[in-house]
Amino acid sequence: MITVDFTVNGERVKLDVSESARLVDLLRETLGLTGTKEGCAVGECGACTVIVNGKAVCSCITLAAGLNGANVITIEGVSKNGELDDIQQAILDHHALQCGFCTPGIVMSAKALLDANPNPTTEEIQQAIAGNLCRCTGYQQVIDAIADAAERRAVQE
Ligand code: FES
Ligand code: FES
Repeated sequence: MITVDFTVNGERVKLDVSESARLVDLLRETLGLTGTKEGCAVGECGACTVIVNGKAVCSCITLAAGLNGANVITIEGVSKNGELDDIQQAILDHHALQCGFCTPGIVMSAKALLDANPNPTTEEIQQAIAGNLCRCTGYQQVIDAIADAAERRAVQE
């Protein structure tokens, strides 16, 4: 076992984990943060995307043992005071989801993008969500929603 000490959504977490423990299991099973979904379990669908130290990563292929000192944000850490953030609201407004299974991962990929690049091009948005597969909705509404969220953020600044 290895002791890891890191933050999840601003809360300090100190846990003993096995060398092979996956971040997705730590989040969903140990911490009860079930908003992060597991689809393929091999890093191909993006349903499990969370943000680690500012970067979108697949938590199904991220080892918890390597997280000492890391700052992890999950979908539960995106809304503030019960209010959806601009990305979440734009996804709703653009009807950019159907079953919603892919949506937490898409929101996290979009947040990592917009936090680093507040004014992305369409190509940059496409690249940011290239690892997020959606079997229901298609991608145009998602791209429109992320572009709209960037505009909403800009208006508020
Ligand atoms: S569940 Fe992690 S990429 Fe599919
Ligand atoms: S909305 Fe169903 S997989 Fe994307």
